[in-house]
Amino acid sequence: MTITLNWGILGAGNISGQFVHDLLVNNVDPEGSIKHTIISVGSSSASKGEDFIKSNGIKTSNNNGVEAITEEYDDFYKNGKIDIVYVGTPHTFHKEQVTQSLENGKHVLVEKPITLNAKDARELIELAKSKNKFLMEGVWTRFFPSVKLIREHIFEKKTLGEVYKLFADFSMNFEVEKLPTSLRGRDIKLGAGATLDIGIYSVTYGRILLDDKLGENSTPFDTKSFLSLDPTDKVDHDSTILIKYENGKQGILTSSNHTNGPDSFVRLEGTEAVLEMWSDNPARPKNFKITFTDKSKSPIVFEEKNDYNGFIYEANSIAKEINEGKIESSVLPWSETLLVMGIMDKARLENGLIYPQEK
Ligand SMILES: NC(=O)c1ccc[n+]([C@@H]2O[C@H](COP(=O)([O-])OP(=O)(O)OC[C@H]3O[C@@H](n4cnc5c(N)ncnc54)[C@H](OP(=O)(O)O)[C@@H]3O)[C@@H](O)[C@H]2O)c1
Repeated sequence: MTITLNWGILGAGNISGQFVHDLLVNNVDPEGSIKHTIISVGSSSASKGEDFIKSNGIKTSNNNGVEAITEEYDDFYKNGKIDIVYVGTPHTFHKEQVTQSLENGKHVLVEKPITLNAKDARELIELAKSKNKFLMEGVWTRFFPSVKLIREHIFEKKTLGEVYKLFADFSMNFEVEKLPTSLRGRDIKLGAGATLDIGIYSVTYGRILLDDKLGENSTPFDTKSFLSLDPTDKVDHDSTILIKYENGKQGILTSSNHTNGPDSFVRLEGTEAVLEMWSDNPARPKNFKITFTDKSKSPIVFEEKNDYNGFIYEANSIAKEINEGKIESSVLPWSETLLVMGIMDKARLENGLIYPQEK
């Protein structure tokens, strides 16, 4: 049986283009049992939406015979052919746009972070429940094949022995001081800051590699943090969150806009082996290596090679869950999103980073 999901893409920008790329590659795979059709691109301007369709190569030949259109936001929300909205705009717009999408009877996949804080996320979750519509935060990292395999090694096969410590980093030098403060990466009014933008991935590794449970069932933990706030734009471009679980496991979860991180963005230390993960982008964990203390044992290496950016894994998972009538992801349930948002809320509170929308 083929499952088809009809998408509306909200925001004709950077990440929407990367997301759409994967849907189109998937659609021309003759083996694929899940098809994703792009119905409409919602954009602040028709010409921007048309450019998006053209520059991302959306054609009837790779879009299941459907010609994608572009619409301004109000028409987009009312478009009855859209099953699910992908929200690919800066964080500060997520709450309003997810609300509009749910109110108009659409399922929603919203880019990370779901909102600026846990309080707003909770409101959206309540709305999704009341509308009986699927809602998920797009932390695509959790859906990669490597993550499933790694978690089997850590928690089921115990390949690393007892795990004690994690170093996870997402750092990328985007030469902060040279950029205007009006950009998404610097503008406090757009929710800028390393923690919400990239630190969320380090925190994600702190959750998926140190705990085998999710959300409300998670192993109890405590966190402490240090964020360095920029004197000009007032947001954090360097962020360190320390996590300690009740069972003693510890994680050092860092992010920076000032420096480039190590090739191995994850190093997980166990009594019998060390896991390292690498890729061109710590958000997309394509490869890993497990090296044993006992040098007579060969390392375990996994490398993913294909044309996908990696968004296809979350998209296919969502298509299956919606097809089964679910409104909450089993991989990233609402309580897990709230738990991660809570960790980041606490870090911001400890370091005095409050967004204007929260005052
Ligand atoms: N999953 C990932 O790895 C990943 C990577 C990067 C970003 N993200 C997330 O994706 C979201 C968007 O990031 P991005 O880099 O794609 O952003 P972007 O390219 O700067 O903006 C995306 C779109 O948002 C709308 N927009 C941007 N600035 C706006 C403003 N000031 N006022 C109103 N609308 C505005 C525009 O849509 P119109 O077409 O309507 O004009 C724009 O095309 C963020 O929440 C970010 O955290 C995720």
